[in-house]
Parts: sequence; structure tokens; C-alpha cells
Amino acid sequence: MLKVINVVGARPNFMKVAPIVEAMKRRATEFAPLIVHTGQHYDARMSDAFFLDLGLPEPDVYLGVGSGTHAQQTAGVMQGFEPVVFREKPDWVLVVGDVNSTLACALVCSKMGVRVAHVEAGLRSRDRTMPEEINRLLTDQLADLLLTPSTDADENLRAEGIPSSRIRFVGNVMIDSLFAQLERAANSKVREELGVSGTDYAVLTLHRPSNVDDPSAFGRIMDALEQLCKRLPVIFPAHPRTLARLAEFGFAQRVAHARGLRLIEPLGYLDFLRLYSGARLVLTDSGGIQEETTALGIPCLTLRENTERPVTLKHGTNTLVGTDVQRILRAAHAALDTPRINGPQTSTLPLWDGHTADRILDALIEEQG
Ligand code: UD1
Repeated sequence: MLKVINVVGARPNFMKVAPIVEAMKRRATEFAPLIVHTGQHYDARMSDAFFLDLGLPEPDVYLGVGSGTHAQQTAGVMQGFEPVVFREKPDWVLVVGDVNSTLACALVCSKMGVRVAHVEAGLRSRDRTMPEEINRLLTDQLADLLLTPSTDADENLRAEGIPSSRIRFVGNVMIDSLFAQLERAANSKVREELGVSGTDYAVLTLHRPSNVDDPSAFGRIMDALEQLCKRLPVIFPAHPRTLARLAEFGFAQRVAHARGLRLIEPLGYLDFLRLYSGARLVLTDSGGIQEETTALGIPCLTLRENTERPVTLKHGTNTLVGTDVQRILRAAHAALDTPRINGPQTSTLPLWDGHTADRILDALIEEQG
């Protein structure tokens, strides 16, 4: 029986951990899972809503770290997590993704001699100004078992000198959640509530510091949106960081005056899935949404100059557009002028098949010997 601490911290972690914990509960003779929530995200709409939508059990431990500078947040998670590991003595600690909680918990374990498995290992944007890139590089150096979503990640890890014996290509666990929840999401009435049922519309998400903390980058994105929303409604569920910057930079007025641009509160997992799965176009700077749109065959414009998920570009659903107004608009109109092709893309994306969680569990068992 393996005792595993599963760490969640921020919004993009919940949909990765939910299928893993579900599989561990199903395989109860092999696994005893615990959930530790660091509290990096704490608002009901950024956290609680996801536990409910994804059927994640209540965390066994809540560290309540909250917001802060990178150093404060990372140190806060480390200080809170160390005594938990000391008390629980797990066989494995499983961390996912690239948020500050991921690195903080991996670092605690590596010093305590507790084995760490990193889910979504090996992704690289090669942009070290992104805090997530630092978290990815360091977590992968520390982890004992590197579980990759795509084969480009295996190549990245080997190029950094990580031995093949630590690397396992298991597929994309976020797609397990996507396929598991598609049917339930069909009951969401979010499209009707927003008045876009049966209409062509776009969905926008934006939260990267490089876009929203920089008034000129954010301003250029606003310029493009003001044009785009003349062609079709753009629904914009806004992250708390983004809302704060909108107010700070005086952009709230511009949003209010842009007819067709609808700023709304962050949505839960099922409502958001229902919303973007019916969209004609998605614009985002998120990592996960690039993958989710790819899995469903929805055109996605990524408001960044690079991506750690090149498989989405190769697949053809995702396009990097940066923050240049004309580049965004050209790509948006081109996507809207192309006939819709969406539908699940499982056959062309190796191991994005809804069964990654079980492969992760098998890898842990195999590693245990
Ligand atoms: C974090 C992750 C990022 C991930 C994103 C998803 C890191 C370095 N960044 O960025 O990789 O894509 O989550 O959402 O780990 N806030 C709230 N309520 C909350 C959480 C945050 O109001 O529940 C506000 C606070 O003002 C905070 C700001 O949002 O200062 C930013 O939150 P933070 O956790 O620092 O980073 P994110 O931008 O959310």
C-alpha cells in the first residue's frame, strides 16, 4: 500500500489532481491518498468551485498560505508543508504543473529524502522571465519520477541530462478530467445565461503578469478586443489579478464601452468547459486552455510569444499571436473565416485519451518495485 500526498495549490492544479485521486480511491488496496491544499488560491471561485465540480474530496490538510510575493508564497508553502511530510511520512509526494506550490513542495521533499513524482514534467517555454519556467526547471531537477504529457517533454528532460530511467511518458492527465466531465458540463446553462446559446462567440482569458501587469501590453490587447467584439461577442471571465489591473490602468471604462465584450466573474470548471467548448474562437494566455482547446479541436489564439506546449501548435489548433494588435486581429479573422472543424481529437494526440491517471499510478507502483 502506497501512501501518497497529492499537492494542490492553484486553480490549474485541481483538474490535474482530481482524476489521480479518483483512481487512487478506486485502487484502494494499492493506494492511500491524502490531499494537501496549500491555499495559494483561496477565493471560492478560484478554488472551492473546482472541488465541487470535479468531485475532489475535501483536502486533508489546508495550509492557508494565500497571496504574496514569489518568495513569500514559496517560503510560506515550504514552512507549512515540511511538518505535514514529517508527520505523515508518505511513500510519495505527487506535485503537478508549474505553480509556486509545485516547486515549494518538491524542494521540501528533496531535502527530507521523500520521493517526489512530478506530473506534467518536461514542458519548456525557454522563457526564464516566466515564473512558471523557473518552477518547471527546478522541480524537474528535484523530482525522482518525471511523468510527461507529450514526447517533446521527454526530449527536453534528456537534453538537460536527466536519465531516461526517471522519465515516463504517461499522457495528459488534464484531458482525463475534460473527457470525464464533458457530459456533466452539458447540463450547465451558462450559454443561455450569457445569451450566446446558438450564437457564434469568442472566449477570452488573461492573467499572465507579462500581459496584465504591463499597461502597454494590456492596452494593445484591449485595442484588439475593441475591434474583435464588433464581429462577434467576446466573453471574458476575469482572474482577480486581471480585474485589479483593469481598475488600476483605467481600462474598466473601455471594457464597459466595448459593446460585445462581456466581462464576467471567473467560472467554475463545468461552466467554463460548457462555455469554451461551444466557442467559435478562444483567446488566452493560459497553458492549460491551449491544451483543452486542442483536445476539442477549437481554434485558439495564444496571447504570448512562446509556449511550453508545442504539441498544440503542431496539431494546428493553436496559434501564437503575442500582443501585437494587427497580428491578433489577422489571426482572429482568419480563424473565423475558416469552417469549424471541432470535435474530440484523441486519435491524433498520443495518450491524451482519458486514461493517464491510471498510467501515473502504474508508474508509481513500478517505481516502488
Ligand atoms: C498562479 C500561477 C500561474 C497559474 C495561475 C492560474 C504561480 C507562479 N503562478 O498565478 O502559473 O497560471 O495561478 O490562475 O504559481 N488572488 C485572489 N484570489 C485568489 C488567488 C489570487 O484574489 O484565490 C489575487 C491576489 O491579488 C494575488 C493575485 O491574484 O496577488 C495573483 O495570484 P497568485 O497566486 O500570486 O498568482 P496567479 O496570477 O494566480
